[in-house]
Amino acid sequence: MYICVCQAVTDGQIAQAVANGAKNLRDLRRDLEVGSACGRCMSSAIKCLRSAKSEARQAGNSVAA
Ligand code: FES
Repeated sequence: MYICVCQAVTDGQIAQAVANGAKNLRDLRRDLEVGSACGRCMSSAIKCLRSAKSEARQAGNSVAA
């Protein structure tokens, strides 16, 4: 699903960026240019970032368990 239409960034790309170390919107903007045009995607990008970080933590916990 597209999160940032202007830059054609999907939720999968955001999840991959988180897996590669992105921790906040600044990182996503640097890596994917999310929100660098109209900015309407920012609230969706924040939700997607939080979700991806949560999933990454859970995946890390299940691997460690
Ligand atoms: S939808 Fe992301 S900058 Fe426009």
